[in-house]
Parts: sequence; structure tokens; C-alpha cells
Amino acid sequence: MAEDNANEASSTSSKNYDIIVFGASGFTGKYVVREALKFLNTPNSPLKTLALAGRSPSRLSEALNWASSPNSPPNIPLLTADTSDPNSLIRLAAQARIILNCVGPFRLYGQPVVSACVDAGCDYLDICGEPEFMERMEALYHEKAVDKGSLVISACGFDSVPAGMGLLFHSRQWTGPSVPNRVEAYLSLESDKRIVGNFGTYESAVLGVANAGKLVELRRNRPKRARPQILGPAPPKGPIIEHQKQLGLWAIKLPSADSIVVRRTLSALTENPHGLPGVNESFESAKMREAFWLSVKPAHFGVKLGSKSLLGLFPVIMLGIFIGLLSKSAVGRWLLLKFPSFFSFGWFRKKGPSEDEVASATFKMWFIGQGFSDSSLASQGNKKPDTEIITRVMGPEIGYLTTPIILLQCALLVLKDRDNLPKGGVFTPGIVFGPRDLETRLQENGISFDFISKKTLTA
Ligand SMILES: NC(=O)c1ccc[n+]([C@@H]2O[C@H](COP(=O)([O-])OP(=O)(O)OC[C@H]3O[C@@H](n4cnc5c(N)ncnc54)[C@H](OP(=O)(O)O)[C@@H]3O)[C@@H](O)[C@H]2O)c1
Repeated sequence: MAEDNANEASSTSSKNYDIIVFGASGFTGKYVVREALKFLNTPNSPLKTLALAGRSPSRLSEALNWASSPNSPPNIPLLTADTSDPNSLIRLAAQARIILNCVGPFRLYGQPVVSACVDAGCDYLDICGEPEFMERMEALYHEKAVDKGSLVISACGFDSVPAGMGLLFHSRQWTGPSVPNRVEAYLSLESDKRIVGNFGTYESAVLGVANAGKLVELRRNRPKRARPQILGPAPPKGPIIEHQKQLGLWAIKLPSADSIVVRRTLSALTENPHGLPGVNESFESAKMREAFWLSVKPAHFGVKLGSKSLLGLFPVIMLGIFIGLLSKSAVGRWLLLKFPSFFSFGWFRKKGPSEDEVASATFKMWFIGQGFSDSSLASQGNKKPDTEIITRVMGPEIGYLTTPIILLQCALLVLKDRDNLPKGGVFTPGIVFGPRDLETRLQENGISFDFISKKTLTA
């Protein structure tokens, strides 16, 4: 196994690696490496060269051993880089076609990585679920990324691709004159073992709530984005806890990044009704992209977390209350971060879930859309939708199986289809990958998109 050394800096102009996984030693990072190895030098895969990067060569080596097991580890370079050392990031970005960033919380560590990638014209994908980070990167780096030819796409994980691609899939079921008005996604996490997340996600959520004011301030100082034209009235607020009888779920609003990222995708679509042209796009690809976006009909969108019993929502509500109350003070944050298992009722652990817990978990995200059988009904001021369509996205465990699958498929798509993607800029996954073959790729890798039902609603 080659380890990096000072000579590495001298080869900055050549792209030595198709992909560098940064943060490969992290809990999620090692699962990302395992997923990447499935595609390294396999027939038809565009992934020919891979390197892992992080602070500690020994931890990277452990991660590679784990990810390759039961096989012996392949000969993959392990590169040393630290977000507090800008030169180490410049070296990484100079050598990679794409950096897959798994170093979080992104609000603490993400910006120097984006900055190095943009400067080097290297593409950047991450698994961030932190709206403020994403919007700040857009504000700071979009123009430069366009100029330098660097694609910067955050949230290429469970946050927010099932919701984003799921909404596009759902919206396209409203064919002919029918239009959706509102779509509610209900997330159901299932397992015959405990459902557990790693500390990294918990810490990112705590810091996100603690700094919620910064997102409000950031938005106040930025130009307003275009709002999509959605036919019909805005949906009523509804109860805090909903009994969704059709799905057999009790549900509560999930304050994830999903609906925020979806809103940014719909704004980008409103500003670019034919989507984003590729840097060197073929005629066929442009036609397909335009046809795809013409078939997408925006809707109001929200996400709820569902549980089969009302009691099952109790830990979620309590965790929300604990984070809401305690994250605002330094002592409260210390307590939350010191005792994640206690405050999250065992949902988050410092050492993450066991392999068995990961393997036995699955998710279903149901999209219940209500709208009008004919768009003219909505324009005539009808308040009540007359049609309901249900679709579903389903897949394995969210954080460490689904997220690596999505991240890798996004990266492979970039490697294979770069000419048909925008030259550069800071974008959401939906606006870039929506019209490409991401949905097909996810279907082929265990994440399904299904039409479930369509019915007429009676008054
Ligand atoms: N989108 C999604 O659905 C999704 C799913 C899973 C995770 N995530 C996000 O992914 C992030 C990571 O989560 P995790 O559970 O994998 O966390 P983790 O196990 O703590 O991993 C963090 C990684 O970052 C590295 N790191 C920390 N500080 C660094 C620095 N200054 N320079 C370079 N590397 C540094 C760590 O390296 P060392 O080994 O050297 O400490 C480690 O590799 C979180 O923000 C989480 O929210 C998102």
C-alpha cells in the first residue's frame, strides 16, 4: 500500500485519481469505501483509480482492511490531509477528478474542502445534511465554481436524495392535464433490531439547531430565489401529530434538510425551466433533459417521520425538545454531546451501530400527493384536490448503506457523464442528476422507486 509523501505535492497538475474518499476513516467513510471497492476496475465501471484520504494513515489502513474484508486490501494510496492544513487539501484537490467528502460536521470542517476543490476545478460531492452549510457554500462559491469548472453538490446521501429524487419521480406520475398540489413524504424506519445512528450525525444535528439563527441571517442577506408556480391553494397546516390511516403510521414533521433541498431544486428549476445545460452536451442529452423537466410539476412538499405506534414518536419528540432547549447554551451542548445515548433514547451512539444493526435496517418513504385531475380545476379556484397519487422509495439502512450507495452512484454518474453535466457551480443533487440516469442507477443498486396507487377523492 503506497502512503503519501512530500513528492505527492509535485504532481499537482495531473489528476491521478478518479475519486478520493476524504474522511475514509470515519464511520460513514468506511462504508463509502466498501461501496467504492465494488466498482473499482469492474467491467464498464468508469472508476479506475481510487485513493483514500484522512488525518491518520493507520486509521485509513484499518478502514481499508475493514472495507475489503473478507478479501485482502487492494493496493490503494492512502493520502494524509487535514482540514486545518489548507495545503494538504490543495494537494488532494489537484490530484482528484472528484472528492467525496465524508468529513463532518460540515459546518466545522467542510468549507476549506469546498474552497480547495473550487480553486482546483475539481468536482466535489458530499453527504452533508446541514442546510446552513449548503446555502453558505452556494453564497460563497457558486460564481467561482462556475468559472473554474467545479461541480459542488452537497446532500448526495440519504439526506436528501430519496426525498429529492422521490419527489421528482412522484411529480412525473401526474400525467396529462392532472397536476399535484401538495406532496407529503412519510419516512418509516424498520428493523427487527435497534435502529441506531452514529455520533457524527447527532453532533451535526445538535450544532445545526444551535446555530439555526445563522441560517436565518444568511437568507436575509441573500437575494430571494424564484418560487415555483404551484397550482391551487397552499395546504392547511394540519395537526402536529398526524394519524396517517392509509399507511398505518403516526407521523410528526421531520426537521431534516430534505424539504429545504427540494425547495432549492424547485427554485433552480423555476429559474432554468429546461434545467442546466451540460458543458459539452450532446443533442440527444439536451433533448432528454428538456423533456424530463417538462414532465416535472412542482408541488408543496414536506417530510414527516412515521411510527407504527403513537408511543414510538415519544423518543423523537423528547429528542427534539432536548436538542431545542439544550443546544442553545455551551453547557447544554456539552451535556447533549457527552451523553448522546441518554438524550436520544439509544438512537445515537458514540461508537455507532453494529454491523448486524446496520444490515437489518430498512427504510420506506411514502409520497402521498394530492392534486387536481385537470389543472383548469385548480386555476378556477377550487380549494379541494380531487385526486390522490401514492408512490414510494424504499431501500436498505439509511446512514451507512443507502447513503454510500447514493454517493457512489452520483460519483459514477459524474465520471461517466461529465460532458452532459453543467460546467460548474454549487447545486442540489436534484437539479443536476434529476434528468440523468441516477434513478435507474439507484434502482439497480437496491433503492426502488414505485408507483403504488391513484384514486379519486370524494368531497
Ligand atoms: N446524508 C446522510 O444521510 C448522512 C449519513 C451518514 C452521515 N452523514 C454525515 O456525515 C458526517 C460524518 O459522520 P460520521 O458518523 O461518519 O462521523 P465520524 O465517524 O466522526 O467521521 C468523521 C470523519 O471526519 C474525519 N475528520 C474529523 N476532523 C477532521 C479534520 N480536521 N481533518 C480531516 N478529517 C477530519 C475523521 O477522521 P479521523 O479518523 O482522523 O478522526 C473521520 O474520518 C456527519 O456530518 C454526518 O451528519 C450524513
